[in-house]
Amino acid sequence: MTQDEMKQAVAAAALAYIRPQLESDTVLGIGTGSTANLFIDALAPLAGQLEATVASSEASAARLQSHGIPVYDLNTVDAVDFYIDGADESNAALQLIKGGGAALTREKIVTAVAREFICIADQSKLVHTLGQFPLPVEVIPMARSHVARELVKLGGDPVYREGVVTDNGNVILDVHNFPIPQPLATEQAINNITGVVTNGLFAHKPADVLLLGTSEGVKTLYAE
Ligand code: A5P
Repeated sequence: MTQDEMKQAVAAAALAYIRPQLESDTVLGIGTGSTANLFIDALAPLAGQLEATVASSEASAARLQSHGIPVYDLNTVDAVDFYIDGADESNAALQLIKGGGAALTREKIVTAVAREFICIADQSKLVHTLGQFPLPVEVIPMARSHVARELVKLGGDPVYREGVVTDNGNVILDVHNFPIPQPLATEQAINNITGVVTNGLFAHKPADVLLLGTSEGVKTLYAE
């Protein structure tokens, strides 16, 4: 099975997971990235039955709307029942690195509101220790150099993601060569740097369930 086939399989599995629980007033949170895009496409046949979605990026909102699926501002909904999104890495505790698509802040906001976060990913994303994937940090533009110096003090090697402006008008620093054995402490420490909007560690609020695409099929994992 190819990586794309695994992504397709987990998108279908996520739909199968939520479908029996869909009610007339269910609000779905929709993530960003290639795996989330496949989930959006899988949702298309249900467009007429979906009351509301909220999206973690302008790109995902546009893709949902292209299928006739209603997208709302998060401020206009009372709750988000399920949030479905991919990840760049997950450990066994379902703590994640996200933000490869630069949507980490909105992803973290929707995660904060969601009753259940369903992560969908292929098997290459499951790691023992987070940090092989460079950790994205969203930064207010004028604080870029200051934040970079502080990230070096924490032991990382920050690299400015040239040419990328987030949906919130900010920039991204990707922290390379930065193993993360203690995700809770690292998430907090980076968020404490003045000028950081947020970082791509989802440790304080990890995924609730990981649907992992493997060559033997989709595995359903809960935090160890
Ligand atoms: C977007 O900012 C990211 O958090 C994505 O969820 C993550 O990069 C996974 O993307 P893929 O599904 O394309 O691997």
